[in-house]
Order: sequence, then C-alpha cells, then structure tokens
Amino acid sequence: METQKYERAMRMAINAAEQFVGATSPNPPVGAVALDAKGKILLGAGHARAGEAHAEAKLLQLAEQMGKIKEIETIVVTLEPCNHQGKTGPCTAAILKHKNIRRVVYGALDPNPSVAGGGAEFLKKAGLEVIGPCLEEECQFLIRGFAKNVLVGLPWVTMKAVFDEKNSMIPPTGAKTFSSPSALTFAHELRKRADAIWTGSGTILADNPEFTVRHIPDHPKRKPRYLVISDRRARVPDNYKKAAEQRGFELLFPASLEEGLEILGKKGVLEVLVEGGPMLRQAFLESGLWDEDVVIKKHSTEEEIEVRFREETDVHGTH
Ligand SMILES: NC(=O)c1ccc[n+]([C@@H]2O[C@H](COP(=O)([O-])OP(=O)(O)OC[C@H]3O[C@@H](n4cnc5c(N)ncnc54)[C@H](OP(=O)(O)O)[C@@H]3O)[C@@H](O)[C@H]2O)c1
Repeated sequence: METQKYERAMRMAINAAEQFVGATSPNPPVGAVALDAKGKILLGAGHARAGEAHAEAKLLQLAEQMGKIKEIETIVVTLEPCNHQGKTGPCTAAILKHKNIRRVVYGALDPNPSVAGGGAEFLKKAGLEVIGPCLEEECQFLIRGFAKNVLVGLPWVTMKAVFDEKNSMIPPTGAKTFSSPSALTFAHELRKRADAIWTGSGTILADNPEFTVRHIPDHPKRKPRYLVISDRRARVPDNYKKAAEQRGFELLFPASLEEGLEILGKKGVLEVLVEGGPMLRQAFLESGLWDEDVVIKKHSTEEEIEVRFREETDVHGTH
C-alpha cells in the first residue's frame, strides 16, 4: 500500500522533471512531489534550469506561497537531495528547516561518486525517515545524460535517422526531408531535449538545415545550444556559419568524433543529438561512441519509430 502510494507520487515527480529535460544542463532534470500525513498529493515541481532552485527547494517555495508548507509530511524526489552548496543552497538544509517534514522518498542515488549517498545519509542522521530507491530504473533513465557526464565526462549520444521504403536516408531531389508532420514533431522533441546538435558538412551543403526547435515550443530562455559540425575539409561556407550563430547556436568544428565529445562533456552537455547523413551516421556506429539510436522508418502508408541502445551502454547510468 505504502509502496504503491510512493510509486504513484514518484511517477508524478518524474513527469514534473521531464518537462525540463534539455533545459537544466549541467544539472540533471529532477522532479519532486509533496504529500500530506494521509498520503494525499499536495503539489509537484521540477528543476527548471541551472542557477534556479532545485526541485525540492522550488517545491517548498511553492508550498509556502500556496500556504501548504505546514501540511507536508513526505517529500518524494526523483534524485536524492543534494547536500552541498552549489549555485543554490543544499536541499537537505531546505528540507530540515521544516520540522513537519518527517520523510523523504528518493528515486535514485546521486551517480556522482563523490556525493553518492551523501544527502540521503545526512537526512537519515538528522532523524528523518529516508526511503529509497523507489522506481529506481525510471529515475536513473531520466538522468542518463547527467550520469554519463559525471562518470565518464562525455555526453549521452543519441542518433536520429529517417529511412525511406528503399532503406535510403537521402531525400528525393529538391526535398530536404521525407518525414511526415508527426515524424517532424517527434524529431523536434528530440532536439528540444538535447543541449547540442551534431551534423556533417554533407548535410549542410545538401540541405542548408536550420536545426532549430520549431514544430513545438522550445524551452523558454534556453541558453544557446551547440551546433557541432564535422567538416575537416572546411567546406561549410561562412554565410551558413553566420546564419547559424544568428539562430542562437554556438558552433564547434572538432577534428574528430572523440575530440568533439570531449569538448561537449567539458561544457556540461548532457545529451547531443546526431542529425547527420549516412557518412556521419556510419562513423558514429563504427566508433561505438553512441548510446541511443532512434530510427524512423517510412513504409508505404505508415511510419515506424525504433529506439535501440548500444549493448555496452548502461541506460541506467551506473556505468
Ligand atoms: N534521412 C536522414 O535522417 C538524413 C539526416 C541528415 C542528412 N540526410 C541526407 O544525407 C545527405 C548527406 O549525407 P552525407 O553522408 O554526405 O553527409 P554527412 O554525413 O552529414 O557529412 C559527411 C561529412 O562529415 C565529415 N566528417 C568529419 N568527420 C567524419 C568522420 N569521422 N566520418 C565521416 N565523416 C566525417 C566529412 O567531411 P570532411 O571529410 O570534410 O570532414 C564528410 O564528408 C543529404 O542528402 C541529406 O539530405 C538525411
């Protein structure tokens, strides 16, 4: 009964976090939900972007504003509360300030080896009941990009490709794409969750693509995304580069896939979306430097979306 109650709240916390996937870098997306003594859900909140309140702190601020702070007995949060002073104060301190909060249910431990167990242990020692992990796989999957970055210093690499009935990635002459409106919307959702887009010179020369999020609203006030271009022969013209910068991109021209991923990792990128042509796709597949492969296959009357993960990739981010 208790487990079901916490899992239901945790699902809501995951939903709250998912709204901001792609906006929080270098922080992970995190969601939190408050329950009263009867287990009733009072409210939920997600961490919106780095520099702003963490999910638990935002939840407490909202609860104060709504006059519900005294009703909270349990906080359900997708990631164990932080116990260190970053741009904002530690969430453990924000929770302990309110004596009516008696319990914290967490989804996943912090994957960062230097803080793992820190917040949960601290709250336990302070006398709170600490329960977890709860829905651990889902909560770890939510932060797969963050986990990869803190553990190996590289972003999560998602590849996206569209294939026609003849298994070709090349659109018909004169067209930039053969995706349906629903496949385009899906592609823009993938862009929205990424901190960087990676393409090749071949795609730019063929299609002059914008790489912006247009079919759905982008995260408001999002910091510039990186646009990584594989272009060792420097064929991409200056006017494309200038226009891309005007669209809000910060451009990177790495000498190799390894170099590009290392640079992105250092910049705190959690996820990069590879949107290149067949050559770049092949290079990523052969290098083994990818994690998730999203393939949209066109059939005569319908489209099929396939998502697979590289066998060696730990989708739960524990590496
Ligand atoms: N259906 C789809 O999902 C989709 C998506 C995007 C594009 N496309 C289509 O794909 C076509 C372009 O394909 P493409 O294969 O010519 O272009 P591409 O894969 O976008 O770019 C290839 C270029 O990337 C550079 N590159 C840098 N490092 C590389 C590495 N390690 N391995 C391979 N390439 C590397 C190479 O140029 P340097 O040698 O100068 O470095 C190479 O010429 C267009 O028709 C476009 O419409 C389709």
